[in-house]
Amino acid sequence: MCGIVGYIGERDATPLILGGLKKLEYRGYDSAGLAVLKNGQIEVRRNAGKLVNLEMNVCEQPISGTLGIGHTRWATHGEPSARNAHPHLSGSGEVVVVHNGIVENFIELKEELVTEGVVFQSDTDTETIVHLIEKFLSVTGDLESAARKALGQLKGAHGIVVFTSREPDKIIAARIGNAGGVVIGLGEGENFIASDIPAILEHTRKLIFLESRQMAVVTREDVHISTIEGTVIHPQVSSVAWDPVSAEKGEYRHFMQKEIHEQVRSLTDTLAGRVNFKEGTIRLPQLNLTVEKAKEVEKIVLTACGTASHAGMVGRILIERIAGIPAAMEIASEFRYSDPIVNDKTILIAISQSGETADTLAAMEEGRRKGATIWSIVNAIGSQAMRVADGSISMQTGPEIGVASTKAFTAPLVDLYMLAILLADLRGDLSVQERKKLVEDLRLIPELAGRCLDREGEVEETAYLLRESKDMLYLGRGINMPIAYEGALKLKEISYIHAEAYPAGEMKHGPIALIDENMPVVAIAIKDPWYEKMISQIEQAKARGGIVVAVATEGDERVAALVDRVLWVPEAPWMLSPVLTSIPLQMLAYHIATMRGLDVDQPRNLAKSVTVE
Ligand code: AGP
Repeated sequence: MCGIVGYIGERDATPLILGGLKKLEYRGYDSAGLAVLKNGQIEVRRNAGKLVNLEMNVCEQPISGTLGIGHTRWATHGEPSARNAHPHLSGSGEVVVVHNGIVENFIELKEELVTEGVVFQSDTDTETIVHLIEKFLSVTGDLESAARKALGQLKGAHGIVVFTSREPDKIIAARIGNAGGVVIGLGEGENFIASDIPAILEHTRKLIFLESRQMAVVTREDVHISTIEGTVIHPQVSSVAWDPVSAEKGEYRHFMQKEIHEQVRSLTDTLAGRVNFKEGTIRLPQLNLTVEKAKEVEKIVLTACGTASHAGMVGRILIERIAGIPAAMEIASEFRYSDPIVNDKTILIAISQSGETADTLAAMEEGRRKGATIWSIVNAIGSQAMRVADGSISMQTGPEIGVASTKAFTAPLVDLYMLAILLADLRGDLSVQERKKLVEDLRLIPELAGRCLDREGEVEETAYLLRESKDMLYLGRGINMPIAYEGALKLKEISYIHAEAYPAGEMKHGPIALIDENMPVVAIAIKDPWYEKMISQIEQAKARGGIVVAVATEGDERVAALVDRVLWVPEAPWMLSPVLTSIPLQMLAYHIATMRGLDVDQPRNLAKSVTVE
């Protein structure tokens, strides 16, 4: 959840680290710090609160040097404060560490270290790591062996970066398990370390991704990778095409708003190279899907967390309807504890923007253990979920920085639609005409998404009416039921308004009791197969004094006459309609939150990728 940056080279490390942390602040923003080696001494600056506090501190008390590490924190152990912020120094001040993850056995380790006379300066689990390394350094005499010994004692999943003033020519980085990525960026006479690509993208695109239980010794000229146990690894150097500019806010007030508006482009990129409209075919080569494989599949399990799980709910319907394969959507944090019925005739599809969500990665491991084929639909290139899968679909949306996921929600809806067509086609379940029709339906989707975005002004007016609500209810049916869940999640996480989502048909079984003039209802009532049912549910809500905002198909006077406000979407084939209905709900949440004066890119208590269980 935290962000890590490291630099070793000839340039001043401080601005490079602060610049990198700025790009990673979405990963955690309750405190931040950096450590730089200056004239043979480690100097540390740490501050509670957002990165700007650290930047002010560094302005008032400048530090510079050509080697340093930085960290932006999302607290797990120890309150968010300057003393708990990373980096953590050893007792002698000669070793310094930043860390992402949880030391699960830190109480035992701490007790042992305290008995040996170590004095702790913070409440964090991370501090045990730096004391352990210092302890072993006095035995081994070199940082690399000391780090190996210390890492061998840690339980849990970790990304760790450490250096010592005793060896001023190197930084060591290590990854154990799924506590987020560790990536090494290769430069000329300089090298970089980061938990996430955007932090170093403006400096290099040549990257080495550490696998679990790997360690990198990074000097100005070289990078040596080995396992924690010491076996030398010859890593693959990847080249990343992401445009660093796309990780900037540009003309928009917030990343979230920019990313909402990027959906026309991201949907276009999602189709590019995969859809042949002339022939009516789909290509997803990175799945390595053969006719035999498609025919032997008996079950598809989709797994994900949060917003990605709502994409999975839509995907379940698409796979069953188009490919006729029984499908289930399983929440990743529950999956591995539910003794799932999964075998070698199952394909498990993990959906993840970051590709580093601990629960999703654990679900993939559980599927693997039970013999399933593992696929992933991932945005972050080179992430763990992409690397460990048997096949993968890259979301092609570019970096998503806003904590509330938007463009990384609509892209996988299209990916899953294309996947369902491909499966059905390979299984011989579609006539040429059926396939061509399904493929043709994709053609206008980016343009129709653009028409939804053009209506931002109208959405803003509705947001103004709803901005002071205490509670809101989101209703949908069928393929748009998951969009009600997604709309409610968007609102909750950035506006802090309590919102619930229900399959509209469930209302009469209890929740209808909640409806009065203080409980606005957002009902997705487009012209899809559930339209008539939604109309009658809206009537029921209106009969009880509810204020109803409908997401409706352009020109639908019947809905307009029934409700208080309408968020219009263009007409589209029902199986692709969630791509469109989700957009006004993203904009609604965004504008309500900004009208409430909230920081939508960094909502309280949240982090962009959740790399702890
Ligand atoms: C989305 O708005 C959320 N912040 C969150 O639910 C997110 O979708 C979830 O944590 C999963 O993340 P992932 O896609 O990176 O795996």
